[in-house]
This record gives sequence, C-alpha cells and structure tokens, in this order.
Amino acid sequence: MDRREFLNKIPGLLVLPLIIESIGCEDDAIPLRTGGTSTGDTFTISSSYENGHSHSISIQFADVENPPQSNKTLTSTSNGGHTHSITLSPSDFQSLQNGETIIKTSSSSGQHTHTFNISVP
Ligand SMILES: [Fe+2]
Repeated sequence: MDRREFLNKIPGLLVLPLIIESIGCEDDAIPLRTGGTSTGDTFTISSSYENGHSHSISIQFADVENPPQSNKTLTSTSNGGHTHSITLSPSDFQSLQNGETIIKTSSSSGQHTHTFNISVP
C-alpha cells in the first residue's frame, strides 16, 4: 500500500470506532429488569444474593395503584434463619406506578444487607 492508498482508507478507519461506540451506548440504555412475578393481589421481587442466599418481598398492587400516605415497611421471606426489611415511601410507590425501577437496600441482619431492584412485572 502506497501513501495515497493509505490516506484514502483513513476516513473509513475513523468512522469504524464511532459505529462501535454507538452500538456500545445502546447496551448501556437497557433498563434493569427484576424478574418479578405476580400472584393475585401481589407481585414478588427477589433480592440480590449475599452470603450465598437471597430473600424475596411481596408488594401489593393496590399500594402501587393508590400509594399510601406514609412509609410502608415490608418484611422479606426468611432464609438462613433471618429476615430483612425495606421501607418504601409514598413517592417510591408513585415511581412504581410510573413504570420506573427503584433500588432499595434492606436492613442489616446477620451482618449483611440485600439489594432489591423493584419494578412492577
Ligand atoms: Fe439475608
């Protein structure tokens, strides 16, 4: 390849990284999904795994449809002989109603906490 051939290829070489970068940005935009399941009047969210286990919480659809006037504390399922709790504010329930994902860190129990990524399934 002589100098002229090399210079003719430069525009293509400059554009390729931009294309790769734009594809990469789309991956960043993928929203968090919770894998939640719904059963009757409630839906259930699983927590992150910590110390080799997880917990789940159940949230009332009615609280999402009509957010309570004050904070609501939910207790997780028991696993390994302990539970955790999370507290959702009225604005948290409003965010869920708006289709947003909220992230809550549980209370500490057994010297660890869990994270709940919550959205309405
Ligand atoms: Fe735990």
